[in-house]
Amino acid sequence: MSLFARAFAASCCDYRRLARRRLPQFLFDYIDGGANAEQTLAANSADFRQLQLRQRVLRDVSQCDTAGELIGQPASLPLALAPLGMAGLFARRGEARAASAAARCGVPFSLSSVGICSLTEVHAASAQPCWFQLYMLRDRNIVQDVLRNAWAQGCRTLLFTVDLAVAGIRRRDQRNGMHDPGWRGRCYKTWQLLQRPAWLMDVGLLGRPHHFANLSQCLANPADINGFKAWLDAQFDPSVTWADIRWLRQQWPGKLLLKGILEVDDALLALDCGADGMVLSNHGGRQLDGVSSSVAQLPSVVQALGGRLPVLLDGGVRSGVDVFKALALGAQGVLIGRPWAWALAAGGQPAVEQLLHGFKQELAVTMALCGVNRIEQIDRQMLRQTPLGPVSG
Ligand SMILES: Cc1cc2nc3c(=O)[nH]c(=O)nc-3n(C[C@H](O)[C@H](O)[C@H](O)COP(=O)(O)O)c2cc1C
Repeated sequence: MSLFARAFAASCCDYRRLARRRLPQFLFDYIDGGANAEQTLAANSADFRQLQLRQRVLRDVSQCDTAGELIGQPASLPLALAPLGMAGLFARRGEARAASAAARCGVPFSLSSVGICSLTEVHAASAQPCWFQLYMLRDRNIVQDVLRNAWAQGCRTLLFTVDLAVAGIRRRDQRNGMHDPGWRGRCYKTWQLLQRPAWLMDVGLLGRPHHFANLSQCLANPADINGFKAWLDAQFDPSVTWADIRWLRQQWPGKLLLKGILEVDDALLALDCGADGMVLSNHGGRQLDGVSSSVAQLPSVVQALGGRLPVLLDGGVRSGVDVFKALALGAQGVLIGRPWAWALAAGGQPAVEQLLHGFKQELAVTMALCGVNRIEQIDRQMLRQTPLGPVSG
């Protein structure tokens, strides 16, 4: 039954359902959940659903091509896999498997600095350099070391995450005992693990080691996951300002994308600091609950930038139709987070490939039925006026 369900999964919802059956509860909720009451999480995808397309007919769409460009890099569709911390726990050696799927499907993969697999392992699996994501750490020497290593390993695009000055409040994690290192938290997590023996064997035991490989040089004992987490929590630097971004700009010779911009004012500051682009994002609704969806912010940010910087968007993108809508509102491309996490957990690398094929096919069909053949032809005229107000301006 489960085999068939995996083989014939056709949407993000299918993968989500399968992932829920496979993962321990605390891990599924870590992926699935958002901050506080999860209003922004819900808005991210609800706002995509509010956007209506305009169906066009009789326009010779026999040459539909989804190939596009993301920050100067060709891609089979304008989509990249977003950085997800601890993805090496969603399936055995998860980041390496997902990066390999992304490479086979011709889209970029982003490795989180708090991923489980090292850059070396990811590059060996995918045979192409990935994008690398980093937060500002208090110890700037470590930041420089990590950047030097990423550059030496061939990474040329840095996603620098700016929306995590402090960690958002994730109630599901609290409820699952994720923040309790004591015996009660351990007992509760063990109980949850015992409900998922297949995951426990495949990932929990055979998928080791489970430390944050790209930061492991910073600690004497990287295998001590609790010690590592405490170190990392202490390293997150809430005092970061735009001056640090200017400093970062000098350190990183490759493409610098600021991830987690949501407001026009900040988008203009990013331009001022010499960024090469941005990811319009609210961290998938995991940080500040109550902010608007990223897609609702897209038209005003694109308009303010006036083509001076490429804008990628993430948050709530669940299909090729959503990709089309984001492009119509002026994004150069999108990142997907939870969808690849669910697919990876549900069926490993083949499922991530199947998911990406699905996105591509949906985008191609949407293009054809909206009457366009190429990505550059997608524009605001393909959307109807909606409560988000996208087509004016
Ligand atoms: C489980 C999980 C872990 C994440 N870890 C990171 C991370 O390490 N670094 C980062 O910049 N963003 C992280 N994000 C945010 C994603 O990169 C992305 O912004 C978000 O998932 C997009 O929304 P979506 O999940 O609705 O597609 C994480 C998101 C999830 C769901």
